[in-house]
Order: sequence, then C-alpha cells, then structure tokens
Amino acid sequence: MRVAIACDHAGLELKQAIMRGLPAVQWQDLGTYGPEPVDYPDLALAVAEEVRRGGGLGILVCGTGAGMAIAANKVPGVRAAVAHETFTARAVREHNAANILCLGARVVGSGLALEVVRAWLGAAPREGRHRIRVDKIAAIERHSGGDQR
Ligand code: RB5
Repeated sequence: MRVAIACDHAGLELKQAIMRGLPAVQWQDLGTYGPEPVDYPDLALAVAEEVRRGGGLGILVCGTGAGMAIAANKVPGVRAAVAHETFTARAVREHNAANILCLGARVVGSGLALEVVRAWLGAAPREGRHRIRVDKIAAIERHSGGDQR
C-alpha cells in the first residue's frame, strides 16, 4: 500500500516513527525533512494534491493535527480528519471515507500514533447510508464552487 506522508517541524519525529514502525507501507515522503521551522499549509497542500491526483491515502503530522486538517480540507476531494485514538481513526475511514489522517505530535506518543495509523489503514469506507452522506459532502463542495469536475 502506497501512502503519501508529510509533516512540519513539530511533527518530524512522529512522522519518522510512523514510517519506521510500519515498514510494509510504501511511504511517499513529501517533507519536511529537517528540524527547521516550516509552514504546515505548504506540507498539507503537497499531500492533499497527491491524494487528489492519485486517489490514494495520505497522512499529515503537525503539533496538533488541526492546522494540517484545516488546510488539507481546502483541496477538493480531500476529506482530512484528526484522530488520536483508534475508535475515531476507524470511524473516520468507515463513516466519513477520510482519505487523509492528521495527527498531533504534541498530543499523542508514537506508540498510540502507530495504533491509530494501523486502525485507520485497516478500515475501509462503508457503503449504503455512509456513502450517501459522503456524497452529500461532495455536493456541498460542488455547490460552493470548490470542484469544477
Ligand atoms: C507549529 O508550532 C504548530 O503551530 C503546528 O505544528 C500545528 O500544530 C498547527 O496546527
């Protein structure tokens, strides 16, 4: 499985721990690569654009996960969600078809973060009423002029 991943300076160590902890995943690391401060929207955009282009999954790590999610969700077709425990991680994939998982390195340790990532990657979007609701999210996006497709 190929997953795009990126972080800002606050998320660097956790991103590296996630990549080390899940070596079976084919990581596409889009930065940042060093401890120098960077602006999280730039990294969020890189992963969001990759997910939009390729239709795959992405992971974003910053201090709280929140800034990354807010920025990534501006890209049409992206459904980014913050999750710091496994129940939410599974639910945002099954119910909301979240295609980007956002994590806060100042919120969770690497052990829990790995469990959260495993839960998220191991879940799949559900059909039926959940699909209908996710389609309504896409309709809102179209209505707001976010996606011309
Ligand atoms: C960086 O200090 C911090 O603001 C950033 O990592 C993130 O938490 C923003 O949402």
